[in-house]
Amino acid sequence: MRSLYIALGLLAFAPVGVVAALVASGTVDANSLSMMLNLMTGADGPTADESTLARRYEVPDGFQLSLYTADLPRARFLRFTPGGDLLVSRPHEGDIVLLEKDLDGDGRPDGTRTLLANLQRPLGIDIHDNWLYIAESGRVSKIRFDSASGQTSGELQTVVPNLTDDGNHWSKTLRIGPDEQLYLSQGSTCNICEEEDQRRATMMRFELDGSDGEIIATGLRNSVGFDWAPWDQALYATDNGRDLLGDDTPPCELNHIQPGKFYGWPYFYGNNIADPDMNADPQAAERSPTQPVHPFRAHNAPLGITFLEASELPDTYTKSALVALHGSWNRSSLDGYKVVSLHWTPAGIEERDFLTGFLRDGEISGRPVDVAQAPDGSIYISDDYAGAIYRVTYEPDREGSALPMPQPISRLDETPPQWLANADLPAMASSGEMLYQKLGCRSCHDEGENPSRLDALSTRLGYSATINALAYPQAPMPVFPLSDTERRELAVYLLWNPESAD
Ligand code: HEC
Repeated sequence: MRSLYIALGLLAFAPVGVVAALVASGTVDANSLSMMLNLMTGADGPTADESTLARRYEVPDGFQLSLYTADLPRARFLRFTPGGDLLVSRPHEGDIVLLEKDLDGDGRPDGTRTLLANLQRPLGIDIHDNWLYIAESGRVSKIRFDSASGQTSGELQTVVPNLTDDGNHWSKTLRIGPDEQLYLSQGSTCNICEEEDQRRATMMRFELDGSDGEIIATGLRNSVGFDWAPWDQALYATDNGRDLLGDDTPPCELNHIQPGKFYGWPYFYGNNIADPDMNADPQAAERSPTQPVHPFRAHNAPLGITFLEASELPDTYTKSALVALHGSWNRSSLDGYKVVSLHWTPAGIEERDFLTGFLRDGEISGRPVDVAQAPDGSIYISDDYAGAIYRVTYEPDREGSALPMPQPISRLDETPPQWLANADLPAMASSGEMLYQKLGCRSCHDEGENPSRLDALSTRLGYSATINALAYPQAPMPVFPLSDTERRELAVYLLWNPESAD
């Protein structure tokens, strides 16, 4: 695995020829390499679908996960309008998309339309007093926005001109603070260096018209997400640690942003450890860098952070935020690729898994970017790899997930799933039969007054549909806590016919 790490280190600077040579020399297998290249070049990953969600993803007990939309390549930052529509920025497409509020209750947006196009790589978005503010890569702009109709009017106006967007980390995040001022964070041009433009790797603050700009915090390598704690208005920002110092160094950070403070980059990382690639700078040391309030694991790449309005959530979420960990590329084994919850407790900030499954068995199905909470309390998560938005709701009394049953149920024309090709069908069928007995499936399907018989199942359902029916059964059939393998074994038992086997 070490060679993979070295190869990946090289890759950051390597022309395609070098990559090809690495594959040819057998240093890296072609599969991992093509996945890594996808991640690094921002290429799109596999499309999200409900069966992927059902198979891979997990949320804490009482929460339900569903797919809000699967058709938004490179979706990055999210913002709800006061009217309940969801705005999504897509820097690589140069647009902002509006997903119309789900009024018909089918679990999908009622419509999807491009609100603004031809922007310069927009990332941060916020709404204040009928203006939509946009952090483009080279400026902050605004346009009139009516949240009742979900329409803009008039021209796009420049609020803050002449921002630099060269090098790495060109994207900018903006929010209007509780003090009605405009906050803007922008990352560094490089992995580790001294910046020429003093505004890079900082957080800035402006009046809403763009005047009186000041740098309020420095030494922030790439603080892509920030938000204010609702209980004391403290401002917290995520920060991505530098690359190429090894698998577990340095930690990514959550910082408590306070005006005038210096957060260490490029001279220090983590709890004020001097960066080996920078000459010790006595002036920087005098500025006594402020330590992070919470470390994330190295290279996990925390992006969006959103404090939760938790009146409808379990007590442990009273003082909590969700953070999207986009996931590592600069590490020999992949890490991150999930949404975590942070809990402010008397003992400090505690990190727990909230939405996992984007990374399974070394395979990546998505990369979370941002989190937003709708006016009704439901939670939305963007994924720029699968091009999807997920929705998480909390209904403690509801069993299983909020995924709708696959419709229509007749799926005999499905292509046989891949696992079937190499499966030991007789062995699986006999394990399936044992499960069927042990779990009491007979009591409803073979016994009693009016059993709902499964003998002719194979005339109606294929393997995937049967597995889905077991994962998301229709009431009154109960949810059984089955593993993927057990569901497959049951499906083989119910569908496979030894007589017709070759
Ligand atoms: C409490 C009764 C009950 C138990 C126990 C039960 N089921 Fe069911 N199951 C049902 C009912 C009722 C349906 C039909 C639901 C509907 O209306 O579509 C059903 C539907 C199904 C279906 C989909 C059939 C179709 O035609 O769509 C499958 C497959 C299935 N059950 C398998 C199982 C297996 C395997 C077990 C044991 C692990 C099991 N069931 C346990 C009541 C039960």
